[in-house]
Amino acid sequence: MKILGIETSCDETAAAVVEDGEKLLSSVVASSIDLHKRYGGVVPEIAARSHIEAINPVIDKALGEAECDWSDIDGIAVTRGPGLSGSLLVGVLSARTLAIIKNKPLFPVNHVESHVCAAFITSISPTLTPDYYLPTTKPKFPILALIVSGGHTQLVLFEGHGKYQVLGRTHDDAVGEAFDKVAKMLGLPYPGGPSIEQKAKQGDETAYDLPLPDMKNKYAFSYSGLKTAVLRTAQQACSKPFDFPSYQLSELLSRKQKADLAASFQRAAFEQLVHKTSSACKQLSPGSIVIAGGVAASGKLRKMLEDKLTTPAIYADPKLCTDNAAMVAALGFYKVSGGTRPADPYSLEVNPALSM
Ligand code: KG4
Ligand code: ZN
Repeated sequence: MKILGIETSCDETAAAVVEDGEKLLSSVVASSIDLHKRYGGVVPEIAARSHIEAINPVIDKALGEAECDWSDIDGIAVTRGPGLSGSLLVGVLSARTLAIIKNKPLFPVNHVESHVCAAFITSISPTLTPDYYLPTTKPKFPILALIVSGGHTQLVLFEGHGKYQVLGRTHDDAVGEAFDKVAKMLGLPYPGGPSIEQKAKQGDETAYDLPLPDMKNKYAFSYSGLKTAVLRTAQQACSKPFDFPSYQLSELLSRKQKADLAASFQRAAFEQLVHKTSSACKQLSPGSIVIAGGVAASGKLRKMLEDKLTTPAIYADPKLCTDNAAMVAALGFYKVSGGTRPADPYSLEVNPALSM
């Protein structure tokens, strides 16, 4: 069964074709990231306009690379939330229109849940360039999933596809968001995850002692305190008072201070993830551990988890960790195989605040 996936929840316009929820036939991603860089974060209106321009060519390219025409496609899966409403609307309206005119069943999916499905993609069409590092085995249920992205940070236990329990989530900022904000403070480019990882390589991760939160639910997360701690530390390092604006700090901090702050922040941010994932793993003894979402592309996080976890974690290829439509197509397949009825293409609405 071949599913066309469509994803437009944030700044990536993506379409992909996946066979049986595991074989990647194509994955096309057009990002408007360069248009957002000078604002230090995604501007919703610019993202939505870029989706409108990109969506048709991206879908055509995904079908072309998969060597499919519409008669080969068995269904359409689309992200209905969570995400930016203007962005989601472009994907959902495109999917609804195509479902009607091409007479295909339509399956709305949750973006956050779909990140985990990227780890089920274990094979690739021989016609695609093989620069994908796919997991060699599929995750086994029950799966302990750590989902870490720009908008979400949560630990989830999956008993099966669509059957899950959220063990804990962030009470404030997501980890990726904290990386993006700290990068902006240090004058590093957006997105913050990769630029902090690069900068941190030149720094000392023990230079600054940053706090870890003490949460009531041991699987819950918090990142706003850490973000503020980086700001206070940077102000102190520049001998400035606490009301000194964060956007002026990067001009005053030395190269070494920036690298040390990046490294110390990265260590503290990831320690929280590693500590909670490892204690959930000890308590629940899952069949597999999956680390999913944009932040799972981090080499440093992968190394820290490898050092701590007794069972090796499963990761999608870094290109399938950040936003893409292959994960959406894969979840669409598991919805079909689990007996989910298709949505009404005349009335499906976006849900920007959809939660797991
Ligand atoms: O999953 P994603 O592409 O979009 C959302 O659903 O939010 O995640 C984007 C987040 C950004 O905050 C970005 O800074 C972070 O993932 N990210 C990384 C890396 N690549 C992207 N964080 C750490 N290391 C990376 N290599
Ligand atoms: Zn995402």
